[in-house]
Amino acid sequence: MEIVIRPVRPGDGKGINELRRMPGVFENILGIPSEREARNEAGIAALDHATQHNFTAVTYNEQGEEIMIGYGSLTIESNPRRRHCGGIGMMVHRDYQGRGVGTKLMEALIGMADNWLMLVRLELDVFADNARAIALYKKFGFVEEGLKRAEAIRNG
Ligand SMILES: CC(C)(COP(=O)(O)OP(=O)(O)OC[C@H]1O[C@@H](n2cnc3c(N)ncnc32)[C@H](O)[C@@H]1OP(=O)(O)O)[C@@H](O)C(=O)NCCC(=O)NCCS
Repeated sequence: MEIVIRPVRPGDGKGINELRRMPGVFENILGIPSEREARNEAGIAALDHATQHNFTAVTYNEQGEEIMIGYGSLTIESNPRRRHCGGIGMMVHRDYQGRGVGTKLMEALIGMADNWLMLVRLELDVFADNARAIALYKKFGFVEEGLKRAEAIRNG
């Protein structure tokens, strides 16, 4: 399977919305069932060029058209004393999980952080039972720093 990682662009809001609401992804991110495509599209338009570095993972159907299969974000902290830190997040289409898409997204995000933004620290939050995500993050050297309690609502 060809996996291409490219910068997010106008029009990606539809694919992002589908990814964020699909079972297999939704449970492990912080979206809500009523999340609208317009919000996702507006979010792309509002991205700050200097501090927000988001990538879309795509593959192609038989007609050569793009299929959005993943999305990753890297946001540099705005506080001057935390400017060396970045927060990351990612999601992969349920039908394409476990096939290296998250790995490619992570390579793109870490490549930005290490080679272009010169960040010192990357941070992320993950649900404690999200074994696949934790395995991916550990593969890239992330270490657990703490366990939050009642951090986010999850299906009641
Ligand atoms: C987490 C997520 C981004 C990972 O992306 P992915 O494309 O599935 O990940 P990859 O295929 O690149 O790598 C997954 C790794 O975990 C391993 N893995 C898969 N399932 C696992 C499991 N149940 N337990 C432990 N390791 C597991 C794979 O073997 C692979 O490691 P390897 O490359 O050393 O073989 C993706 O599964 C996803 O979007 N999940 C739902 C949303 C989500 O959890 N987002 C992250 C929120 S913090």
